[in-house]
Amino acid sequence: MVLALAPHEPQPVPITRENIFDTPMTPFEEWLFSLARQNPARFRQLVTEWVDMCPAFDGPEDGADVVPPGCLTPIPIPEYWKIPVHLEPGGFGNPKVVRLSQVSKAQWTFTREENVREWLSRLYGDAPPRRFLDIGTGTGTTAIVCAELFPETEVIGIDLSAPYIRFAREWAKRRGLTNVQFYQQNAQQTVFPDASFDAVHFTYVLHEMPVEDARKILRELYRLTTPGGRLSMFDGLYPDTEEERQRKAQFSKITGIEPYLGEYMKLNVEKAIAETGFTEVTRHFAVPDGMVVSARKPAA
Ligand SMILES: C[S@@+](CC[C@H](N)C(=O)[O-])C[C@H]1O[C@@H](n2cnc3c(N)ncnc32)[C@H](O)[C@@H]1O
Repeated sequence: MVLALAPHEPQPVPITRENIFDTPMTPFEEWLFSLARQNPARFRQLVTEWVDMCPAFDGPEDGADVVPPGCLTPIPIPEYWKIPVHLEPGGFGNPKVVRLSQVSKAQWTFTREENVREWLSRLYGDAPPRRFLDIGTGTGTTAIVCAELFPETEVIGIDLSAPYIRFAREWAKRRGLTNVQFYQQNAQQTVFPDASFDAVHFTYVLHEMPVEDARKILRELYRLTTPGGRLSMFDGLYPDTEEERQRKAQFSKITGIEPYLGEYMKLNVEKAIAETGFTEVTRHFAVPDGMVVSARKPAA
């Protein structure tokens, strides 16, 4: 397939299963992202065609290759997740959408490796966790950075998307990591036993779902945390004023880029974390596209 581009527009570099891990965002991809706001109709058309040209991280339909050992397949998928976010063609389950997600991370504060590294060091550097769970791991950035930063920590990344899990596994292998594993799991109801992790974490996850689904995840994270263990999040900013929350909810309605942002504006995530039972809920840092919050499960 050839994209309908004018000669003066940036031409795409073909992305393959081999070069996908090392090819930074290309000028074509940068230009494509800029179209999302300038010319949404053309963006939708081109992004669909572009994604179709990218390599597929596919596998058995029931996800048998990506679930934890002994887990029944297929795992139940919540309804909200079937609606595509970020205008990604086919949503997070499309085996070819991996490249688009991987390169779009250059655009957000806490998907950039240097920021993830800095904040994981600040939060956990004094006492690295024994077992760290990253839910909604996507293409695996937070889990991979954590595994590199803390070589003695056993890191597990989970996501609903089987293609992302396949990508993340291959990426971790190429980076020579042996202390990180990735599985397809629903963070609302995992197969892991109670108190399996002394640190649980998510990066940009709870703003992608209705309020009640986000609360289910927080309850599951509480169950999975050891007494005295820690929770951390790098997720969307919950603004302090109702006016700003309304503005963000309105943006979500108009653009469709973040269909659930209006829901997140109703969640009040720090309050929701405290309501789940975590204590010491602390906001450490905030920028327009995100914030760093940590909390602790009371010791038994
Ligand atoms: C915006 S992406 C963030 C990915 C990654 N944490 C990062 O920062 O690059 C949100 C991710 O959450 C995942 N997700 C949403 N709901 C989930 C659930 N209930 N269980 C596991 N993963 C979920 C999505 O599939 C998607 O990969």
